[in-house]
Amino acid sequence: MKILHAASECFPLIKTGGLADVVGALPLYQQNLGCDARVILPFYSALREKISETHAIFRTDSFAGDVTLRYAEYQGLKLYLIDAPHLYDRDGNPYYDCYYRDYSDNCNRFALLSWAAAAIADGADQLWGKADILHAHDWQTGLAAAYLRHWGSSVQSVFTIHNIAYQGVFIGCDLARIWLDPMMFQMEGLEFYGNVSFLKAGIFYSDQVSTVSQTYASEITRYPAGNGMEGLLAARKREKRLTGILNGIDTDIWNPATDELIPKNFTAKKLANKKICKNTLRRNFGLNTRRRLPLLVMISRLAEQKGADLLARNLENRLDAGGLNFQFVILGSGEKYLEDWFNYLAWRDPKNIASYIGYNEKLSHEMVAAADAIVIPSRFEPCGLTQLYGLAYGALPIVRRTGGLADTVFEGVDGENGFVFNYEYEHDLGLAIDRFVATWKNQKQFEAMQTAAMQEEHSWEKAANNYLEMYLSFDIKSAKKEGEEL
Ligand code: ADP
Ligand code: GLC
Repeated sequence: MKILHAASECFPLIKTGGLADVVGALPLYQQNLGCDARVILPFYSALREKISETHAIFRTDSFAGDVTLRYAEYQGLKLYLIDAPHLYDRDGNPYYDCYYRDYSDNCNRFALLSWAAAAIADGADQLWGKADILHAHDWQTGLAAAYLRHWGSSVQSVFTIHNIAYQGVFIGCDLARIWLDPMMFQMEGLEFYGNVSFLKAGIFYSDQVSTVSQTYASEITRYPAGNGMEGLLAARKREKRLTGILNGIDTDIWNPATDELIPKNFTAKKLANKKICKNTLRRNFGLNTRRRLPLLVMISRLAEQKGADLLARNLENRLDAGGLNFQFVILGSGEKYLEDWFNYLAWRDPKNIASYIGYNEKLSHEMVAAADAIVIPSRFEPCGLTQLYGLAYGALPIVRRTGGLADTVFEGVDGENGFVFNYEYEHDLGLAIDRFVATWKNQKQFEAMQTAAMQEEHSWEKAANNYLEMYLSFDIKSAKKEGEEL
């Protein structure tokens, strides 16, 4: 089976979040299952620095200017790269400039990614021929299925929603200008409250839609999690064209027994080295190492979604009330007020709180290896990967019961592996942290939980099989007809 993944991020080449981890891992695991899985990406400057050899496949004029499609291989990944320096050769984040302002030409940049993805899937690389499946991820590639539909292509399309809050809405986007049919601008199409939404295009025109956990797949069929798409998604669910497939973790990268980025390797049976990781991190951040205290960490984009404000408020309340009975380190970047807030908390109690504002892959491994618990107080969370990394490294997750967090972290039931709270309140989060601290004090019980968590199975093999089953079992075209009649 020939599968083309289309995405705007792919680890280790370019990453802002979990999307990259998924797109960097799933194709490799699909290759292990005997598929020919490839990825199409913009040739960002970060990629030019890493990939030395590429082969030009074709050069063409497009609605977004002159483009060359290239092929390259990188650490087992088979890649198509869209070489259009005027659009993609920019330093830093793939979506916005250093002032966090979306690039003004994002409509063109990601319409071109979608168009090129559809073209390759439809056979533009004559050596490869037509793909069996075009698997597009998130709004940046949502138009790919619209191009396939516009051309009447037989290639089957799957669209995976990693985060429905980002919808690729463009005001005044002229469909004819980006080589689509203006008739698609309607409710039964890619129109969304008077504008064009790339995400809606992906949901509407793809043969099958999936998202990254079962709970999120159900949440997004309702208000408010559906963010305005709930009606369409509820219809897709009725047509059996909406699936939830939980992400896995890449055990070549996230495995405490072999991880080269952490001070000492450890396993569920030999946890002693985890203590060395903990003390090294505490020393590196200048935290007090003389007192025996549990260590809590957070590794996250600092966005509204992640609920970091609930945590900052809780920590501040604890400082006002006399201090913490645990230590805390945060690694994150995003909203300025949150970055400042965590820096302020670290300034108030430098022996127990530390903050690293920025993006740091190595530190993220060191932190998850060092931590007794990892906190993810998300308002919503399609899947979440850091709780899975936490489980694998014996850093028990403290999470809000939502989306993929609800599907992977359990408290007070069989398979207990963390601490779960229900409501978006600082107080509810605080109680979960208190339960963690109380459990940690009973070292025997805590280590038993850690050991069990580390032995859980979350590898990509299972997810890769589930995707394959979805591609194979679903009679996509006939279901689509049914959907259209509805
Ligand atoms: P999301 O994709 O919504 O950001 P996920 O939990 O799915 O959330 O994935 C986040 C990924 O990004 C994880 O691999 C996490 O380790 C990583 N990450 C987030 N913030 C940082 C950071 N500041 N430095 C390094 N890695 C980070
Ligand atoms: C998104 C979601 C996150 C998910 C990731 C990978 O960024 O916010 O929950 O784990 O995509 O699917």
